[in-house]
Amino acid sequence: MAKRNTFFQDEKIEKKIDLKQLMRTVKYVLPFKKTVIMVGLLLLISSVTSLIPPRLLKIIVDQVVVNEDYKQLVLLCGSMFFLAIVEITVSYIQTKKMGKVGFSIISKVRTDIFEHLQELSFDYYDSRPDGKIVVRVTEYINGLASFFSNYVLMFAVYIVKVVVVSVFMLSLSPLLTLVVFATVIPMIVCMSLLKRVLSKKWTDLRAKNSNRSAFLVESIMGEQIIKNYSRIEKNKSVYDEIHQKSVRSWWRIVVLSRLNSPITMGFWNVGTLAIYGVALALILGGSPGVTAGTVITFTSYMSSFRDPISQIATIIQELAQVSSNLEQVFDTIDYPVDIADRENAVELKDVKGKVDFENVTFEYDEGNTILENFNLHVEPGKTIALVGHTGAGKTTVINMLTRFYDVKSGSVKIEGIDVRDIKLHSLRDKVGVLMQDPFIFKGTIMDNIRYGKWDATDEECIESAKLIHADKFIERFPGGYQHMLDERGADLSAGERQLISFARIVLKNPAIIIMDEATSAIDTETEMIIKEALDELTRDKTTFIVAHRLSTVKNADQILCIGNKGIMESGNHEELIAKRGFYYQLSRT
Ligand SMILES: Nc1ncnc2c1ncn2[C@@H]1O[C@H](COP(=O)(O)OP(=O)(O)OP(=O)(O)O)[C@@H](O)[C@H]1O
Ligand SMILES: [Mg+2]
Repeated sequence: MAKRNTFFQDEKIEKKIDLKQLMRTVKYVLPFKKTVIMVGLLLLISSVTSLIPPRLLKIIVDQVVVNEDYKQLVLLCGSMFFLAIVEITVSYIQTKKMGKVGFSIISKVRTDIFEHLQELSFDYYDSRPDGKIVVRVTEYINGLASFFSNYVLMFAVYIVKVVVVSVFMLSLSPLLTLVVFATVIPMIVCMSLLKRVLSKKWTDLRAKNSNRSAFLVESIMGEQIIKNYSRIEKNKSVYDEIHQKSVRSWWRIVVLSRLNSPITMGFWNVGTLAIYGVALALILGGSPGVTAGTVITFTSYMSSFRDPISQIATIIQELAQVSSNLEQVFDTIDYPVDIADRENAVELKDVKGKVDFENVTFEYDEGNTILENFNLHVEPGKTIALVGHTGAGKTTVINMLTRFYDVKSGSVKIEGIDVRDIKLHSLRDKVGVLMQDPFIFKGTIMDNIRYGKWDATDEECIESAKLIHADKFIERFPGGYQHMLDERGADLSAGERQLISFARIVLKNPAIIIMDEATSAIDTETEMIIKEALDELTRDKTTFIVAHRLSTVKNADQILCIGNKGIMESGNHEELIAKRGFYYQLSRT
């Protein structure tokens, strides 16, 4: 089990982002290679077209003005205008195309992360707060979205521009070009160093923001208890403390990021002065080929060079943030799905209901064994009841059968097949669980019942509800079955939520049924009423019933008293009463 994390603890990412990880993003770009190649060509066109005008300017300064050739002037100005139109059009097309590619990539990452989260086992969810999972899918991906749709394209644009401008500058004056590089290279080195420091700060900020989200989500979910125990003021101060940590972390980033501009400007100003100095020395020294036109064109190229360079510096800085986001996103996408189909997993067919637990040992956290060498053999069609103190391990036994968790050693078998060798969908199809606090999804009552069987018709859903007498309370709602329920079924009573989950299981009609405190919130009278329907549902099916209310388990074929990491006593009601042991004591309280 992964180490448990909470809102006051920074999450540590094991796998740091490196170039290899970054290259993984290429996998996401590959499906769009045609568009990317096209955009690349457009980039080249727009970069070249933006660099021709300074050349034309050189001709105007050095030749047209000297020769007073107005015809050539009109021709050159017309060409410059045409080139400007071409550049604008090409830029528009490439931005539009790349924006679309960026969004498609992000939507694929978003789908991948969600699909992976659906497959991850309970262990993953147990070991971190919900809020920290939510921010990975929302906030971090949003950060990536803007990077992919804006910066990836621009990064390519700027790199191409830098290369093309360098070629143009070199063709004009290799010596002056060298001066430019002597300025730019140390500047890029400084920026990269700054990026490295910033990366760490961003990771810290991510962790702090994540803590805040975790606390926020927990506070929303626990709102009732917070109010009931007058924890509002205390919670405000906890929030403030967590929030301040995040603000301080953010402030450190702001201060460091502000260094970006002075560094680029500083290097650039020194570089420009050096260019003028060298150019002046060359002109005064009578160097051939360096004219006033050369200096004007060169400085014009220099400004075409400065923009992409300072943008590249900004992108390097953005990369600091993005790599920290990618770290979190890939950490989720790569998290191993430990409960998955084995290679040769089989479908469960013709389930009669034979269940065997063989020497099962299990622990949620290392060193804290909940079940030890647990053995149980159930014949088809029997009803098994599990009773025992709170925290004894009843739900844990059930969790092994449904493979919500995997045994540490030993095995659980259905029809003689190890549950780990059964395809998960088949196992979950054949084994139905009714929980104490069933989850109600936002949607109509009908939708919630249909969770039991996706392709069920409205009539089938209504029939299931009627069978367990849930129709009476459903029809009290203004829209009946079409009534829109609140999130988590907040507008239902606990018993009503349980009745909806009963309707779900009736619809699903699994071969093995597990009821874990499934009637605990239903009053005894209603329980008696639905008992008939339940008997009908569970007839000839292997059924596990976990209940504290002994009246619910009295008629079971076998009652297991769970405790001390295993079965303390077992037998039917009469046998256990006669034993005068744990069960007998339980029946007297
Ligand atoms: N997800 C989990 N992670 C770690 N420990 C757990 C987890 N779920 C249960 N436990 C621990 O395992 C033990 C057995 O829990 P289990 O839920 O099986 O008890 P139970 O018999 O069903 O109790 P109850 O009657 O209250 O439902 C408890 O001590 C509990 O603290
Ligand atoms: Mg339980």
